[in-house]
Amino acid sequence: MNTELVKKLQDCFYERYGQKDAKVFFAPGRVNLIGEHTDYNGGHVFPCALSVGTYGMIAPREDDHLRMYSVNLSNAGVTNIPLQKLRPGRTRKWTQYPEGVFWSMMEKGIAFDHGADLMFAGDVPAGSGLSSSASLEVVTGLMIRELYGLSELDGRELALVGQAAENVYCGMQCGIMDQFASAMGKKDHAIYLNTETLDYSLVPLLLGEYELLITNSKVKHSLVSSAYNGRRMECAKALADLQKVQGLQELGSLCELTPEQFEQYQSGITDPVNRRRAKHAVYENARTIRAVDALQKNDIVTFGKLMNDSHDSLRDDYDVSCEEIDLLVNETRRIEGVAGSRITGGGFGGCTVSIVKKNQTPAVIAEVRKKYFDLFGIEAAFYRVMPEEGAHIVVQ
Ligand code: GLA
Repeated sequence: MNTELVKKLQDCFYERYGQKDAKVFFAPGRVNLIGEHTDYNGGHVFPCALSVGTYGMIAPREDDHLRMYSVNLSNAGVTNIPLQKLRPGRTRKWTQYPEGVFWSMMEKGIAFDHGADLMFAGDVPAGSGLSSSASLEVVTGLMIRELYGLSELDGRELALVGQAAENVYCGMQCGIMDQFASAMGKKDHAIYLNTETLDYSLVPLLLGEYELLITNSKVKHSLVSSAYNGRRMECAKALADLQKVQGLQELGSLCELTPEQFEQYQSGITDPVNRRRAKHAVYENARTIRAVDALQKNDIVTFGKLMNDSHDSLRDDYDVSCEEIDLLVNETRRIEGVAGSRITGGGFGGCTVSIVKKNQTPAVIAEVRKKYFDLFGIEAAFYRVMPEEGAHIVVQ
């Protein structure tokens, strides 16, 4: 727990809302090890929760207003809005995420008989693609569950409500991965999730002499949400084309296909760009299944190779990498003791994730930092991480 940040949140909560001794809630960000852009194509993903995330506190109000304040964005002040005024697209400011969670719950038929004062503080690096928004949604859901006594909402439901908030209220057509990882993460485990059925298993992340290293490029190319929604649309078009092919009328999602089947039917996809998008989704799903199998056999070398293939496909077929990220990946891979390195998350900047031999991590950091700075004039940030626990109460 980030005790300094929690203390700041508690002090600020008392100062602004006059409440002492309220609980503190937390939901983490995530890193995805493999299985990228498969979660809206009915495929598998393999993320884990991180130690960084969003902390939140909540207190009931007598009227029907929501007041929201972020310790990180103190300049933005307090947002005050009656529950009845919540509407998708109302705002593009940060409060769209907590607002969206309240709104999505109301859409599900949950009635709130009073409003709430909410406050947040986060330590996910801004714009890093480590899912600060999902952690904000999930922590909001957790606080609502507690304040309004909605014990029927389990972690899966909180993830789905968070995703609905993001899809409808915020207009970002994301899949379920980020919210699921934030709500359901388990210390020392990665989550092997079938996004079609939401069946999942927790796989111990036993890396032996290796460790996970996240590298933050500190670049975020604009219009991430529209580019992301565009990819999703291209996949939908590829699927629609395939469904016209004899024998594939019943195809429910791209990831139902094996790579062999894809090769057999791919000519049915008319647009070559859409065909490349579909190819990525199908092969990435197959890689994810193989990677989890390799990890369970302690075969880190194969796991790393599949991570490399994942990146190459995201770069060449899915077109969601960029030169800064490619440089980080290439320079990391050149160093001995690196099993694999790839972009993680939605793309267009953000972070890479690598599996590195522990004794080589200092060399990787030193060399990659220098090359990256020399070429782009940006100080990359490096985080050695382990999977942490999903959403929970940190101060009772
Ligand atoms: C973003 C989305 C996820 C997922 C990834 C790509 O993080 O929020 O749902 O689609 O991109 O794998």
